[in-house]
Amino acid sequence: MASEEIVGEFTHQSETFGASVVARSARTLDELVRLAAPRAGERWLDVACGPGIISRRLAGEVAAVHGVDVTPAMIDVARREAAAAGTDNATFELGDATALTATDAAYDGVITRFSLHHIPAPGRVLAEMARVVRPGGAVVVADHLTDEDAEAAAWSQEIERLRDPSHWACLALGRLRRLGAAAGLTLEDEVGLGLELDFDDWLTRGSGGAGARSVIERLLADPPAGARCFGVEETGGRRILGLRMWAGRWVR
Ligand SMILES: C[S@@+](CC[C@H](N)C(=O)[O-])C[C@H]1O[C@@H](n2cnc3c(N)ncnc32)[C@H](O)[C@@H]1O
Repeated sequence: MASEEIVGEFTHQSETFGASVVARSARTLDELVRLAAPRAGERWLDVACGPGIISRRLAGEVAAVHGVDVTPAMIDVARREAAAAGTDNATFELGDATALTATDAAYDGVITRFSLHHIPAPGRVLAEMARVVRPGGAVVVADHLTDEDAEAAAWSQEIERLRDPSHWACLALGRLRRLGAAAGLTLEDEVGLGLELDFDDWLTRGSGGAGARSVIERLLADPPAGARCFGVEETGGRRILGLRMWAGRWVR
């Protein structure tokens, strides 16, 4: 399932993604850990772990965390950062979220953040996460959403893909909830969070952003009426991109 676009894009972003404010936000990480409710002694899997930010945060709460990601450069950064932080209970390896190598029921909890919108088969990811967690274990997903409104969704996803060619499609909240149910999971808790990103930083971090700036600006100048999950506003001389993130904890 892993495409050259994904590996190319996240090799390009392997240092910058982990340095971004949105990736490191303590508020978001605290909220995710509260939602995930990990317990001491547990083993967790971080799917599409990127530079290992979630893995390192969880490692302080549980016995062991294993991170898998399809981009070799991200695994290198995750190992380096864990070593630099003195985190000795987090391990990392290459792996595809749609075909995990873990055995059934191998983990107490499984988490993924900001990954489903890059993966053309998000239902496969949820099914795999459900498979590798034990009965009663937690499956936690966090991602930014698109609108239920079709015009608004098409508009924001066009902008996202112009800026980052590895972006496949953000999901609307209804679809995310349905995918969890289809994987046999029961939604126990969920939270919505607003994300605020520096627009220029976001635009230029994506490999397509600089080249597509003028068409993106034209699209931004004409948002559809139903756009709620994606928008750019000017505040204090800075342009802020507002996204809506959702995080949910299902139980198997
Ligand atoms: C935006 S980053 C998020 C990283 C991390 N989850 C976080 O939130 O800090 C998305 C990551 O998904 C990974 N990815 C995309 N498709 C994947 C797949 N099919 N299997 C595993 N990893 C994948 C990319 O390589 C990238 O590291």
